[in-house]
Amino acid sequence: MAEDLTLIKEGTKEEKYEALIPQINGLLYGEKNLIANLANIAAALKEGMDFFWVGFYLVDSEDELVLGPFQGPVACTRIKKGKGVCGSSWQRDQTLIVPNVDEFPGHIACASASKSEIVIPIKKDGKTIGVLDVDSDQLNDFDHTDQQYLQQILNLLP
Ligand code: SME
Repeated sequence: MAEDLTLIKEGTKEEKYEALIPQINGLLYGEKNLIANLANIAAALKEGMDFFWVGFYLVDSEDELVLGPFQGPVACTRIKKGKGVCGSSWQRDQTLIVPNVDEFPGHIACASASKSEIVIPIKKDGKTIGVLDVDSDQLNDFDHTDQQYLQQILNLLP
């Protein structure tokens, strides 16, 4: 396929995700390399959803995540299990939607402009291999619609 995305500039969040998902599926088709696939997902989500920061933290040891492919401002490199939104999502093994990061105990502020956040664990063969992290510079920007579509995108990983 051509490497340009067809994007919906005006439209609902649902319409943007719906337009993007088949294209992400196409980008991942036939490619097994995790880093290449995560890099393209981050780029597609940044461009297609206009997120402030979108990227991955990958499990690097039994108690630490390390920064993976991302798009947006530079970010902290390592996050301990149980720390911040990412480390908490990993430890609790659940998606966390944080409407106001200032109210999340232990939130790690990589960028001061970040106001709300969603973090979803990534599973492979029943094990968590990392998390998807999306940050917004607006309060209360993420909901269950994002959770559902972002999870659908993660499920496309081979
Ligand atoms: N805010 C995250 C850290 C990663 S940055 O947002 C890119 C956290 O609290 O885990």
